[in-house]
Amino acid sequence: MKAAVMRANNAPLELEDVQIDAPGPGEVLLKTAASGICHSDLTVIEGGLPFPPPCILGHEPAGVVEEVGEGVGDFAPGDHVIGCLTSFCGVCRFCTGGRPYLCPTQFAGRPEGAKPRLSAGNGDPIGQFANLSSFAERMLCPERSLVKIRPDMPLDRASLIGCGVTTGLGAALNTVHIPAGASVAIIGLGGVGLAALQGARIIGAGKLVAVDAKPWKFDLAQKLGATDCVDATDGDPVAAVHELTGGGADFVFECIGLVPTVQQAVAMTGRGGTTVLVGVVPMHLQVPISASDLTLQEKKITGSYMGSNRFRFDMPKYIDFYLDGRLHLDEMISSRIGLEEVNEGFDRIRKGEVARQVIVFD
Ligand SMILES: NC(=O)c1ccc[n+]([C@@H]2O[C@H](COP(=O)([O-])OP(=O)(O)OC[C@H]3O[C@@H](n4cnc5c(N)ncnc54)[C@H](O)[C@@H]3O)[C@@H](O)[C@H]2O)c1
Ligand SMILES: [Zn+2]
Ligand SMILES: [Zn+2]
Repeated sequence: MKAAVMRANNAPLELEDVQIDAPGPGEVLLKTAASGICHSDLTVIEGGLPFPPPCILGHEPAGVVEEVGEGVGDFAPGDHVIGCLTSFCGVCRFCTGGRPYLCPTQFAGRPEGAKPRLSAGNGDPIGQFANLSSFAERMLCPERSLVKIRPDMPLDRASLIGCGVTTGLGAALNTVHIPAGASVAIIGLGGVGLAALQGARIIGAGKLVAVDAKPWKFDLAQKLGATDCVDATDGDPVAAVHELTGGGADFVFECIGLVPTVQQAVAMTGRGGTTVLVGVVPMHLQVPISASDLTLQEKKITGSYMGSNRFRFDMPKYIDFYLDGRLHLDEMISSRIGLEEVNEGFDRIRKGEVARQVIVFD
């Protein structure tokens, strides 16, 4: 099968013929239908999230089941599915305690010494990113990385739910509890931020301020529910959010992953408010913030990982939101591209030219 392989950090992905194994116990072979491109894939390429090459990235997929391995009961050939990187074991204290997205075994892969799921033409193993590796025509995944979805859901739009939409929507709907009418600011209007914006709208936020450095995104943000937009390159965005929200927002979602914008997010948060860190700051960086600001104004900061999801419960619900007209996904897709255009896709993300791009397979 054709796949885009990361052979080295900070280099273009290479289109190669890759071998994929047959499904083992508990595994499912999928024909990939579509894969969104998430900024986290770019962060891996740039070394900000460690994952050793050679590997195949891509973690926002939808596809169709082709074959199931021994013991797989929940899926059958022909089923439409979404893949999620928070694979769950089902028995640990996080899974049984209701927070399966924190399952410590989520990236475990096949047991030590087993045949690799993916290998190069010469038989050398190729790493599988997050049990998914969706920049490829086929995927071999643990069944516990997958959820079956309604067959009337278009698979290109379904793919967005695999990461960005679940991350943003879930940050607003699961990680924190936003009371109706609360003021919300979203910094960063990529796939993740636009989904957080929609989550805040769906839950009934009052003032909903969208902040980005690319003003072309503001039309889209307003269509998706923003009441106000702030151009981060035009004056001080912190002062602008304070002005719009009467002293800082009740909830601020940082959806970029840069040190200065994390600092801005905390500063934009009003007294008693909550800063939600969704963007992934490269792991080697630290973010200085004022502790007394937190204490004296009782601000809270929380991380939000993959929208605090229980994806087998959440994703079918998000699909209903879309098919009922409450979640807008069509507007979030800037372009549909072929796998051969993946490197140009990353260039467009670097330049801030897109909301979400989806790779579609034949
Ligand atoms: N927490 C999680 O579980 C999780 C899951 C998926 C992605 N992420 C992370 O979320 C972040 C966003 O991902 P994405 O795919 O939406 O990214 P993206 O690149 O599509 O969007 C980022 C947005 O930020 C804007 N931006 C960049 N610099 C800015 C600045 N200084 N001020 C204002 N706006 C600025 C860009 O114009 C763009 O609109 C990334 O860090 C990604 O790794 C986190
Ligand atoms: Zn992602
Ligand atoms: Zn577990």
